[in-house]
Amino acid sequence: MSRLRVGVVGVGMISQVEHIPNLLRLGELFELVGVADPSRISRQFVTDTHGIANFETVDQLFDQRLDAVVIGSPDPLHHEQVLAALAVGLHVFCEKPLCYSLAEIAEIVAARDAARKIMQVGYMKRFDPSYRLALASLPGTSSTLRAVSVEVNDPDAWPFIAHQPYRRGTDIPKDMIAAVAAKQKRQVEQAIGVPFTDLAFRGFTGAYSSALIHDVNAVHGLLDALGVPDGEIVGAQIFANGDGGQGAVKLLDGQALWTMTHLTVPKLADYKERITLFFDDASLELEFPSPWLNHHPTRLTVTTSHGHTLSKKDLRAGYAEAFVEEMRGFWAAIVNGDPVVNPPEHAARDQALLLGLTRRHLATGPFD
Ligand SMILES: NC(=O)c1ccc[n+]([C@@H]2O[C@H](COP(=O)([O-])OP(=O)(O)OC[C@H]3O[C@@H](n4cnc5c(N)ncnc54)[C@H](O)[C@@H]3O)[C@@H](O)[C@H]2O)c1
Repeated sequence: MSRLRVGVVGVGMISQVEHIPNLLRLGELFELVGVADPSRISRQFVTDTHGIANFETVDQLFDQRLDAVVIGSPDPLHHEQVLAALAVGLHVFCEKPLCYSLAEIAEIVAARDAARKIMQVGYMKRFDPSYRLALASLPGTSSTLRAVSVEVNDPDAWPFIAHQPYRRGTDIPKDMIAAVAAKQKRQVEQAIGVPFTDLAFRGFTGAYSSALIHDVNAVHGLLDALGVPDGEIVGAQIFANGDGGQGAVKLLDGQALWTMTHLTVPKLADYKERITLFFDDASLELEFPSPWLNHHPTRLTVTTSHGHTLSKKDLRAGYAEAFVEEMRGFWAAIVNGDPVVNPPEHAARDQALLLGLTRRHLATGPFD
């Protein structure tokens, strides 16, 4: 079995709570060589907690004869760091959103092909055992599909990670933070391509590209299995100061509608994320727990009826953790040549839809 030498770039919340412990747990597959982060507080915490070497810069980490890198840095840095990693011959796992614009994702696809390396995006839901069982439980035809509904209320991570070892870096120099913010602004301008409001900026970078992107990707996988392409965007609103994002997409020439809403509820320590597919004669619902609650199965319910007799089937596919399984998948793609479950091409399709929603919101204006 080939053990891969891996490094982690950006050791904030997702890397400290998920990727680093998970890579260590998968010690037969990965040797975690070191981490890089400009925050001395964060990287030293990782060294103190796990005994892993830390580096201030990405270049110092890339000098450690790595095979692969896991990128968990802020969104605007993904593009340059993925390209830098591919350029030095590393396989790359990068968190979502891969990039804001389709042009940036196309550059990554070209660089991946030139480097002949694996590039996987961090859509862990595709590795969720219940999601995989949902794919296998779909009817063989889309002819009875009538609606897809996505509803998420999310307070963000705080209620679900308080029991985990995690230290937030508060020592990033102000000029570095300002440079990343300016870069993000330029990237978003290029991505959206039309004048936008502050509200649209917050909704596009927050509710849409940071949060709803997971559900868009998951629904795309379900629709692919049914052979249903995206249709016209028929509605989009960004609301609640950008904490809320909503969208509606026509499917099957209007025989079905996909609606989605994400809302951050910062002071409500409750998380709900539901994806429901309604057919003429059945519904299939996935209810995800907060992603930070590891080994907590996603509920999969298939509802059917025979006349007045309603039947609800609760399907359970095990307790495997999606964040762990996505790392196994990354390893298997590199070592065994398994298909990449989440290639950058998927990110391009997801981002195209989120950009379409943002432009639609801008075209129709915010509601009062
Ligand atoms: N898959 C998921 O469910 C999930 C959940 C949370 C976050 N994420 C994604 O993970 C990424 C990180 O999110 P987070 O919540 O951990 O953010 P965070 O702010 O907690 O962590 C980001 C880290 O990157 C570091 N950093 C800043 N500049 C850097 C640079 N130039 N090079 C290297 N590191 C740098 C910061 O110091 C910080 O430690 C984001 O892209 C986010 O969208 C994914």
